[in-house]
Amino acid sequence: MEYETPLFFHVMAYAAEADHDVVDMVSGNPDWEPPEALRDGLREYADFDADRFQYPPSEGIRPLREEIAERRGVDASQVVITNGAGEANYLAMARALERGAGSEIVLTDPVYSYYPGKTTMLGGTAHYVSAGADGHLDPSVVRAATSDDTAAIVVNTPNNPTGAVYPEETVSELVEVAEANDAILVSDEVYDHYDLSGTFTSALSVDSDHRIVTNAFSKTLAITGFRVGYAIFPSHLVEDAKSRHMLVNVAGSRPAQYAVLRALQETDPAYHEANRELLRERVDLFTDALDGAGADYVRPDGAFYVLARFDDYPGTLSNVERLIDEAGVAGMPGSAFGESCEPWLRFALVTPRVEEAADRLAEYFT
Ligand SMILES: Cc1ncc(COP(=O)(O)O)c(C=O)c1O
Repeated sequence: MEYETPLFFHVMAYAAEADHDVVDMVSGNPDWEPPEALRDGLREYADFDADRFQYPPSEGIRPLREEIAERRGVDASQVVITNGAGEANYLAMARALERGAGSEIVLTDPVYSYYPGKTTMLGGTAHYVSAGADGHLDPSVVRAATSDDTAAIVVNTPNNPTGAVYPEETVSELVEVAEANDAILVSDEVYDHYDLSGTFTSALSVDSDHRIVTNAFSKTLAITGFRVGYAIFPSHLVEDAKSRHMLVNVAGSRPAQYAVLRALQETDPAYHEANRELLRERVDLFTDALDGAGADYVRPDGAFYVLARFDDYPGTLSNVERLIDEAGVAGMPGSAFGESCEPWLRFALVTPRVEEAADRLAEYFT
């Protein structure tokens, strides 16, 4: 088994080593503030009795699971608190594969870079379906690619890297395709609070024993370092997922879960709206400047990335390094997100310097 070091690490290290100013648009770390209640929760935790510094229940603290269950319209027994959406996806894909109902994982191309590695690590085989650079997945293409050997269909909406938000019909048809093939739809919805289009539909809106929804507070509350996420399983799949979670992690971080709980209870929806507004402004600034640079780009409906393509400048790792050296802007090579993304570069809008970055790109490419 060979484990690949994600390209992210390489690009981030390369940008950090530069001896000149570089605008970092590599990773998906929000640069905006978490809600104040999250900080309050952390402060409060510091003074709790020592027994609250010990193991929490493995599947997560009860009030957080209940809060999530109530918000998502499911039973708390179906909710497993995970170390971010990363672990939630791992648990979901593992459950799908170990059911013995197939060994193939249907993935989209473009793809979120960590799904292929997880598929291989879990002994599955990836089968890609094309979503096009705009990310708009045609469920009939997924249907055609799905068979008795399909264990799971893994999708992500709002999408990283394309910014696509799947319409309701797509989501319900994907669940239906999973059901028809005795497979599991894994719907990674980690950017659900960054739906800029107002059209996002969760796979939870379709009642089914054949779908697992994964999510996290990493992006929602701007806390990628806290590692609090969750997966919602159908009842018949949840117990073994809890066991795997326990055997891998013992449990998650108790103070982080508590702070997230307080943030959920006390944060006004205006917090999320302000973050979306910030992103909308950044999308406008960045894409306006890309227009000036004559670049082709995909305008995102959600998440916080822009795919851009410049003439005769494919999204290879060496071109990304050249852009860091010569233009002072760091993005991700499109090649990290599947074959169809090879001509593209991905820029994360998680810096107040998006306009400056785009101006640098315009100057470099014109
Ligand atoms: C689509 C997608 N899923 C999962 C993750 C990982 O989320 P977490 O940090 O909560 O593990 C990311 C992070 O960028 C992501 O883009």
